[in-house]
Parts: sequence; C-alpha cells; structure tokens
Amino acid sequence: MILPIYIYGQPVLRKVAEDIPLDYPNLKELIANMFETMDRADGVGLAAPQVGLPIRVVTIDLDVLSEDMPEFKGFRKAYINAHILETSDDQVSMDEGCLSLPGIHETVKRANKIRVKYLDENLEAHEEEVEGYLARVMQHEFDHLEGKMFIDHLSALRKQMVKGKLNAMLKGKAHCSYKTKTVR
Ligand code: NI
Repeated sequence: MILPIYIYGQPVLRKVAEDIPLDYPNLKELIANMFETMDRADGVGLAAPQVGLPIRVVTIDLDVLSEDMPEFKGFRKAYINAHILETSDDQVSMDEGCLSLPGIHETVKRANKIRVKYLDENLEAHEEEVEGYLARVMQHEFDHLEGKMFIDHLSALRKQMVKGKLNAMLKGKAHCSYKTKTVR
C-alpha cells in the first residue's frame, strides 16, 4: 500500500523517534509499504516519520543506482531501531534532496564514515562501519529519526535562499508527483 509522504511543517518530522518493541504489530507490512511508497516516489531512502510514524524504522534501496554503482546491485534493506554510534572527522560534500522537501536540492557536508547499530528485517542485531555513499544516505535517513532534516545543515545564506519554497510547503503547496500530506 502506498502511504502519503509527510511534507515539511508536519510536526512528526521534528520529533525524536522511538525504538520499537520486537513484537511491534504489522512491522513486516509497514516495511513493505515503506518500500512501495519510496519506489513510487523515486526515493533511495525513507524514514518512518516521513509516513507519519515517530518510530526508528528506515528503508534504503540503492539497487536503483547500481547501473552507476555496481556495488549496490540488489541493495534493499530495512533498518530497525537504528542509531549512529560514531562519525568520522573527515567530511564530504554532496547534493541532497528529500521526499519531505520537494523541489529543494542543496549541498550538504557529512561524515565520510560512520559506525551504526540496528536490527535487520529479521530482527537480528548488527553493528557496522559504513562509508561513502551508503554512509551519506544513512546519515540523511537517521537524521530523520532525530527530528532533523537536511536543510538544518545549510548555512544561514543557503537557508535564506530556500525560505520561499519552505513557506510554500507550509501553505500546502508541495509540487510533486507522489501522494503527500501537508500541514494545510
Ligand atoms: Ni529525507
């Protein structure tokens, strides 16, 4: 089932999301719905707060990029109760967008390497070091679990530049091809 994507201004996007219990009802269905929603919207990542749920669940699909990055062939994973444990000092800049911020693309500086812990779809615990593009996507998605969005990383000047678009979103004007839920 395709879920509406919550747009900037929705309070759930600013909440710190909670870990879920291992018997969380219909978790498999939620994950399947998040993948379907993300596929339809052409996203590579989606965090549960973006579909209105303040819980620590993230889906990432990098298979769509595998033509350019063959190491991601078949990469389609869910991360449950995900947390970043450590970030490296070396940072890289890259362009980012977000399904909850349609029409905004800005350069964001993030750590090149991170250490994370999470449960996979079978609720098995993992702790791993990740770097490069996957570390970038994870930091973007896991930020959502802390109530943060990529625009929070912009300079005051860049923030000023996107203000008009943000205000339009607050007025319910989100121009995109997927189903959304704006504040008004
Ligand atoms: Ni996002």
